[in-house]
Amino acid sequence: MKNKLNWTGFLLSAGLILMILLVGIAQTAIAGTANQTAQPADMGEVLFQKKCSVCHGSEGSGGVGIPLNLSDFLKTTSNKYLHQTIRLGRPGRIMPSFNQLSDAQVQSLIHFIRSWKADIKIPQYEQANIAGDKLKGKKVFDTICINCHREAGIGGKGTGVTFSRPRDAEIIAPAIGNPAFLAAASDQMIKKIIMTGREDTPMMPASSMGLSEKDVNNVVSYLRSLSTDINMLHKHEHETGAAILTYESSYSMEETIENMKQAALGHNFRYIREQTLNQGFVDKDQENKDEYLIYFCNFSFLNQALSVDPRIGMFLPFRATILKKDDTVLVMTVNPNYLCSLFNNSELQQGCEFMSEQYEAMLEESTL
Ligand code: HEC
Ligand code: HEC
Repeated sequence: MKNKLNWTGFLLSAGLILMILLVGIAQTAIAGTANQTAQPADMGEVLFQKKCSVCHGSEGSGGVGIPLNLSDFLKTTSNKYLHQTIRLGRPGRIMPSFNQLSDAQVQSLIHFIRSWKADIKIPQYEQANIAGDKLKGKKVFDTICINCHREAGIGGKGTGVTFSRPRDAEIIAPAIGNPAFLAAASDQMIKKIIMTGREDTPMMPASSMGLSEKDVNNVVSYLRSLSTDINMLHKHEHETGAAILTYESSYSMEETIENMKQAALGHNFRYIREQTLNQGFVDKDQENKDEYLIYFCNFSFLNQALSVDPRIGMFLPFRATILKKDDTVLVMTVNPNYLCSLFNNSELQQGCEFMSEQYEAMLEESTL
């Protein structure tokens, strides 16, 4: 029964991913045609549909990303903040950095985002820092804000708006301790956001959280004291290793497959099935017995990973390819660590590092 549930979840998620992808492709196609006649004013819309809508929704109402069309968001965020956020992304929080876009392209995106609520006055903030008491601010943070934004503002578990997966909150709290957020947002802007709150989201105004203006100043000072080293977060990208893990086996093809099953079992993976690489493409008697695929899965990891980031469903369950070439048996598999590094999601990264270790151990055990 448990497995059945897991699989239902998996299939549902796989369906969702397909949908997201198809929508993405459709939008890219539409954007492609629009592009041919695009006026400068439309450039932002074309770009948005192409690069942002997959996560933020075509009208900015949110998805894997948080909403961008809310009045309180547009009322309190400066164009400078939007510009920096698009440029820097949010390392470790899925939101990519778009540093290949020109300034004009980023401006056009902002122009489009603003067009959803054209009557809202765009705020501008003074750069002056807020001098609060950061220790008192930490107390406030660790009593109230931590419940959603988590310790040191690393952000809620998961991302974006809930519409498919059961999660803690309707909109997942963003990472406000993230160096890229702190680099993009001025003290005055952060203060204004906390004072205002965001209607239609779990983010309440300071007064509803029982906070005075002084408390808010203190919290801003606390946030400002958190790490601002963006490079720190990029560090792991250099330690991900090769895209494919390859091991040469000292055993025969049959022995290697048998060893793999044993090794997988020992590491809490479940054997799913094996097949020749060309099964289904040729008649049964023409299948190449020197090229095998073997599938196995760690269901608890699969479920954990899917709840963090549904895109992981694109390459789970894991599979290994076993090839015999000139009497040498090779075992190959994707390196989860490498794939995860493409996702800009530090929560997933930890699981993937664990997974890569398991994988290497299994491949070693079955080949050495
Ligand atoms: C792969 C998904 C993804 C894509 C693509 C993406 N975003 Fe995001 N974006 C996010 C997530 C998730 C967050 C929230 C980050 C967090 O949790 O800290 C976010 C946050 C933001 C924010 C900050 C919102 C706030 O409340 O302060 C802005 C602005 C933004 N994105 C704009 C864009 C734009 C413009 C594009 C396209 C050029 C884009 N994003 C593409 C996922 C994405
Ligand atoms: C009940 C959950 C919850 C609590 C408690 C909470 N927040 Fe939020 N906060 C959110 C959510 C959700 C958002 C994103 C809303 C949206 O969609 O724009 C948010 C947004 C923010 C933003 C804007 C971040 C960005 O990327 O645009 C700041 C700053 C912020 N919160 C600060 C705080 C501070 C400081 C506290 C404590 C005094 C706090 N929040 C308490 C849920 C919460």
